[in-house]
Amino acid sequence: MIGRLNHVAIVVPDLDGAAEIYRETLGAHVSEPVALPLHGVTTVFVELLNTKIELLHPLGEDSPIALFLERNPSGGMHHVCYEVDDIHAARDRLVTEGARVLGDGEPRRGAHDKPVLFLHPKDFCGTLVELEQV
Ligand code: CO
Repeated sequence: MIGRLNHVAIVVPDLDGAAEIYRETLGAHVSEPVALPLHGVTTVFVELLNTKIELLHPLGEDSPIALFLERNPSGGMHHVCYEVDDIHAARDRLVTEGARVLGDGEPRRGAHDKPVLFLHPKDFCGTLVELEQV
């Protein structure tokens, strides 16, 4: 059911510093910061040959990643995103399998303006999973 790894998201306490590590130390292609007020994050995209890394930093008062950064002050891996062809079919299958979909269970527009859902980490080996319809 899942296809390609679309991205790995990493929450960072210092977005410019993290972008510099990826650009200078690791020699990757790194975007300018993109503010996504609707999602409460500012993100930098690191383009790799086979996938992307999204560096995330809280934006605004009720950022969904503020608590994560409180618990992990030096940052850390936040979620992995797998591609699916049909997000409603994927959701229905996962719910049938007993997996928990976060929020109201309806896909919303993600950072790439495509429908996304998040799955409960406790059902997926302790890792928050994002599904993105491509
Ligand atoms: Co994501």
